[in-house]
Amino acid sequence: MDQKRVLLIVGGGIAAYKSLELTRLLRKAGVGVRPILTRAGSEFVTALSLSALAEDKVYSELFSLTDEAEMGHIELSRSADLVVVAPATADLMAKAANGLAGDLASTTLLATDKPVLMAPAMNVRMWEHAATQRNLSVLKADGVSFVGPDEGAMACGEYGPGRMAEPAAIFSAIMAALGGGAKPLAGKRAIVTAGPTVEAIDPVRMLTNRSSGKQGYAIASALAALGAEVTLVSGPTALPAPAGVKRVDVESARDMLAACEAALPADIAVCVAAVADWRPATAGEQKIKRDGKAPDAIALVENPDILATLSQGKRRPKLVIGFAAETNDLDAHAKAKLARKGCDWIVANDVSVAGTMGGDDNAVALVTKGGIERWERMAKGDVARRLADRISQEFK
Ligand code: CTP
Repeated sequence: MDQKRVLLIVGGGIAAYKSLELTRLLRKAGVGVRPILTRAGSEFVTALSLSALAEDKVYSELFSLTDEAEMGHIELSRSADLVVVAPATADLMAKAANGLAGDLASTTLLATDKPVLMAPAMNVRMWEHAATQRNLSVLKADGVSFVGPDEGAMACGEYGPGRMAEPAAIFSAIMAALGGGAKPLAGKRAIVTAGPTVEAIDPVRMLTNRSSGKQGYAIASALAALGAEVTLVSGPTALPAPAGVKRVDVESARDMLAACEAALPADIAVCVAAVADWRPATAGEQKIKRDGKAPDAIALVENPDILATLSQGKRRPKLVIGFAAETNDLDAHAKAKLARKGCDWIVANDVSVAGTMGGDDNAVALVTKGGIERWERMAKGDVARRLADRISQEFK
């Protein structure tokens, strides 16, 4: 960890005192800490305390001649391996979600090309407010990671979620983000498919499936965090490639299969993509004109089944996992799919539950030849980490 550096933005909240302890833990582990203290933050902790613990200068002003001469804010934003915001106040989250850049902290967040981890801290009502929850979704979709908030008694006398995570928990999240955790999948190669596929009807029209790609991207990221060398074969999504993952962009199911086969040999394959089962038999090179009437029909042909092809191929990865999006009879359909595709596990989810498709949470059941294990509803990131852990146990 001696070479690693964190840029720590300390926002204005009573939890700012915990960031002093966090700084101490990081320094003890040999991680460099360069602090930015917002004006509101300086109402709660002093620049002197932060500087003494960080053993570095504290940056506060966007328009400081001395600071800019030493290190411009753009350089500052890229001077670390990870940007940590603790406490991440409602105000800082709102600024970051909307791309505002009116002070040093928000400008740094907008200018950085490094991963960002936020530890929110605020009053429970502020946390639960629709505006904060909206900002949270936007930030997650932009690739920001979160630790906490915890639930409990708050300094303002109320009770609920909003307390900043404890310094030890933020420290662990930072170590994991910096790659300091255990690497049980080091040396293993994984292929993950994600997102929808797009099948052209003509140059302007297409057949596709609903899929945000969130679950597949989270799995690719979780496998990479455990040391796997991950190729993420992705249909069109609005998501950034997770850190440390090789992303191959594709459109059609046939392209997705070809990209997966090109990534073989692999030890693990996780097929999360919502592949279009059919494609138009002939994708015209010219736009189909309206001509006053709709075409009678669009003839469809079947697409290759990527999961089945990988499961039954000569170069089969040791562990092949499929997903099953079902709207009814989850268990029966998932078991049948396991047998039909020839894969080892099926992660089944009930997409009839509102908010699953495109949402941030997922309730899944893991179906193996040994039986069905139901997991409680949790964030897609947590489903991914738990699945990655289970995968790593197969390679012990
Ligand atoms: N899958 C795939 N290639 C396809 C279709 C599906 O790799 N052409 C994979 C998906 O990535 C997922 C699993 O197969 O891991 C199950 O997908 P799903 O759409 O639920 O199943 P289908 O095979 O389409 O079966 P059905 O339509 O009967 O539910």
